[in-house]
Amino acid sequence: MSTNSWTTVDDYITALFVPADPALAAALADSAAAGLPEIAVSPAQGKLLTVLARAMGARSILEIGTLGGYSAICLARALPANGKLITLEFSPKHAEVARANVARAGLADRVEVIVGPAGETLPRLAAEGRGPFDLIFIDADKVSYGDYLRWSLRLSRPGTLIIADNVVRDGRVIDPTDDDPNVVGVRQFNDMLAAEPRIDATILQTVGSKGYDGLAIAVVTG
Ligand code: SAH
Ligand code: DHB
Ligand code: MG
Repeated sequence: MSTNSWTTVDDYITALFVPADPALAAALADSAAAGLPEIAVSPAQGKLLTVLARAMGARSILEIGTLGGYSAICLARALPANGKLITLEFSPKHAEVARANVARAGLADRVEVIVGPAGETLPRLAAEGRGPFDLIFIDADKVSYGDYLRWSLRLSRPGTLIIADNVVRDGRVIDPTDDDPNVVGVRQFNDMLAAEPRIDATILQTVGSKGYDGLAIAVVTG
């Protein structure tokens, strides 16, 4: 299979399971118009987030890395009317675009975008007793994934689902000579995840419109 056919099949999956979605289409269009990088999860991956959040009946969700709010919309859609998603974003500009996209999707009442470096907002959330969250999605700067996992554990309970994007990076994680800080960060995260006795986890490789990468899917057991 070539990357080209993976993308064609991804389009087929999207046509089946994410057909004509004005809120998501507008979120992508406005993110691109505002000059945000085109690195949101793919439609099929976003739908996986919706399905997983719905399957576990998530009522409180934490996202680390908002961008234009695409994955936040996918996750928040699974929440009940009184549910809550908190999403952390470093860039005020990204946060502003995200808030508008979330509002247009009719989810402003359920989504709170907090601006600032997650390394600072996560300890604040913990200090304020805002956890535990039912689902945590890690998708910000890859060098800090290890720190984000530690904070996620602090903000979780047994049964919390922790999902992390971009943990395969075109297969570069398995090349020990690859010392790109992003790759090193993700490799350390994967090692931590595997060694952590309070977590049961796996990694799902992903292909398609976003290239070759992977999603870590983990449940807190203790
Ligand atoms: N989850 C989004 C994509 C996130 S892209 C989606 O799938 O739709 C990664 C985002 O993390 C970017 O918007 C970037 O600005 C943000 N980011 C980078 N470093 C960060 C940090 N230290 N704290 C919080 N957000 C950060
Ligand atoms: C990239 C992709 C992502 O999904 C992300 O969250 C951050 C960066 C990238 O391709 O560089
Ligand atoms: Mg990502």
